[in-house]
Amino acid sequence: MLPYFIEKLQVKNFRNLEEQIINFSHGINCIFGENGNGKTNILEAVYYIVKRKSFRKNASFPQMLGIDGENPEISFQSLFFDKEMGANISFSGKWDETGSQWYLANKSVKKKLQVGIVFINPFDSQSFHNSASARRAWIDDHLSQINDQYKKALSRFTKSLRFRNKLLSNKPSSYLKQIRAIDEEMAELSLFLTTQRQLFLEEIRPLIRKAFNDLFSEEHDLEIMLDTKLGGFTKNAYLEMCQNNLQKDEIIGHTHYGIHKDDYVLLFDGLNSFDYCSLGQQKMSYLSLLFAYIELFRYKFNSFPIVLLDDVSGELDKLRWHNLVSYLNERKFQVLITTANDSFKEVLNTLEDANKLYVSSGVVDRM
Ligand SMILES: Nc1ncnc2c1ncn2[C@@H]1O[C@H](COP(=O)(O)OP(=O)(O)O)[C@@H](O)[C@H]1O
Ligand SMILES: [Mg+2]
Repeated sequence: MLPYFIEKLQVKNFRNLEEQIINFSHGINCIFGENGNGKTNILEAVYYIVKRKSFRKNASFPQMLGIDGENPEISFQSLFFDKEMGANISFSGKWDETGSQWYLANKSVKKKLQVGIVFINPFDSQSFHNSASARRAWIDDHLSQINDQYKKALSRFTKSLRFRNKLLSNKPSSYLKQIRAIDEEMAELSLFLTTQRQLFLEEIRPLIRKAFNDLFSEEHDLEIMLDTKLGGFTKNAYLEMCQNNLQKDEIIGHTHYGIHKDDYVLLFDGLNSFDYCSLGQQKMSYLSLLFAYIELFRYKFNSFPIVLLDDVSGELDKLRWHNLVSYLNERKFQVLITTANDSFKEVLNTLEDANKLYVSSGVVDRM
């Protein structure tokens, strides 16, 4: 991962954003504006440039294309600062219904930018606490970003699982033989992925408690645990499990058992934060997890990811807003933080050195 800061962004035909150069500072960038004016769209454009995908599920090209554009193509121009090289680097792209193309310093590139990015939206904490699939997705996305082998193994696992499910639902004559072969592969991948998940949680665990304390000056035991069906499994034990569950899989037509059903539990002073915590405490715990991840990222790559915080003020009281803002102010990462909340804006406005932008109908002005 490279120590990059985004300095300039210009998009064309991207949702409601006007074609204009948006300037960012290396520290905190506050993006203000009333609802529906384009704050989230700016974060989404930055995220898209880095990840080549949206943070929205199933976001497609037509959804992103500005409805007023004459030309059915979205284009991105951006300038990043490479801290290690002390130099600027331009990165641009265009995206139409046939796909996207990207250029680093005007040369076509296939590989994504090796830049870390984290994003949180106003609902992430509640989804994380309410839904096992959101927890799985959070861990998979964040762990993939810092562990390439995990990412590759996860992608192979997902493909195998899809194929296995297809066999189970169609049942061609050779399917039992094929399932046995897939299970061999999935066994190895499942054991590898489970070990990597456990290692990740071990690494992040001490950092979550510290982040909570640094953020909110409160001592709490925060722990994240993996709830797996495969604890301590060997390959043979895994294959036996597949055999034992095959009959049910055949009846229901998909794989109902395995690491794709594993879950994570966030414990707050030993109690499940979903059952025990107030919404505010859940948000504080979730933010601590996120900032712990950012610390872990720094530990691994000696640089920070770009941090996108989309209206995180909800559920937190004024004291916690101040805590959060001074925490951000003491850190050295680049933050883009949005809000439509006037009281939270007042707190952000106490940051004298922050870059402050105001968005109205897709037009961005410096304040
Ligand atoms: N494809 C599109 N083309 C043009 N405008 C769009 C498109 N998709 C969404 N919008 C507009 O973008 C605005 C929402 O922007 P958003 O960044 O989510 O607002 P907020 O400032 O509240 O974060 C809405 O006004 C919506 O109508
Ligand atoms: Mg928004």
